[in-house]
Amino acid sequence: MQSNIQWYPGHMTKTKRMLATQMKIIDVVVELLDARVPLSSRNPDIDTLAKDKKRVLVLNKADLADEKVTARWEDYFSGQGFFALAVNAKDNDKKKSGAAKLTAALKKIMADKVEKQKQRGRINAPIRAMIVGIPNVGKSTFINQLVGRAGAIAADRPGVTRGRQWLKVGGEFDLMDTPGVLWPKFDDPMVGIRLACTGAVNDDILDRITLANHLIEIFETLDTEILQRRYKANTLEGIGEARGFKMKGGVIDLERTAITVLDEFRDGKLGRITLELPN
Ligand code: G4P
Repeated sequence: MQSNIQWYPGHMTKTKRMLATQMKIIDVVVELLDARVPLSSRNPDIDTLAKDKKRVLVLNKADLADEKVTARWEDYFSGQGFFALAVNAKDNDKKKSGAAKLTAALKKIMADKVEKQKQRGRINAPIRAMIVGIPNVGKSTFINQLVGRAGAIAADRPGVTRGRQWLKVGGEFDLMDTPGVLWPKFDDPMVGIRLACTGAVNDDILDRITLANHLIEIFETLDTEILQRRYKANTLEGIGEARGFKMKGGVIDLERTAITVLDEFRDGKLGRITLELPN
């Protein structure tokens, strides 16, 4: 099945220019990905924008992704020289939280710089981090988790940053208060489809029946039992039948069935599923 998803708003050029300016005062770029679609949720422009920066890749929504596959993705990205970690931005357990993991990672990554600054007599110069990612990947949720209540005490540093607000994260680092929003790249139509399946982009870009059928095709490549386990059926028609989604004249309501499958996948009701595997 082919689809035609081309979506790159004109204002992105302006946004990219703004991001490039903001980057100048940043030490570490924290890129959020969706652990269910780690490649599709990356925007390759960030490699150019952040090329001189320390980089962290955060695989967010790990609670919805297959744990074993997430571990493979962490290895894959580590192998490419990134600092990769899996988190659930909605988990508020302080010790295990993504915030704790990121703080530990930043300390490690920035140890050299902090040491150099110490030698120059600059003690406690803050590490400055910025969170970037495509829409809906969980940037605001993760920033809330990182900052917690302390975020209310935002430090303004005119001069260096002119009007920009910094959020203090546990006295460990300063986080730019607004995340950098990147647009996904849809050069490969499957990227758009995977992102629409996870709900990252509006699923109006494809009709829902087509989209749900794509999702079912992807499931078949991963684990043929995914649908069987929940619906005791393998096709959209079969699921509609099993659920009793009938219209007048006994015709199966495929639209309603498609919406149900998409919603239940997004809510994790079909289990923890990662749609792309590292090669
Ligand atoms: P953004 O700033 O990058 O655009 O994303 P945002 O934080 O608004 O998060 C987008 C959606 O993803 C939200 O759901 C949010 O709750 C959810 N989310 C973020 N991080 C995680 C995570 O680690 N795990 C899970 N399961 N969900 C996560 P929503 O449906 O838009 O809102 P709501 O359900 O929270 O009300």
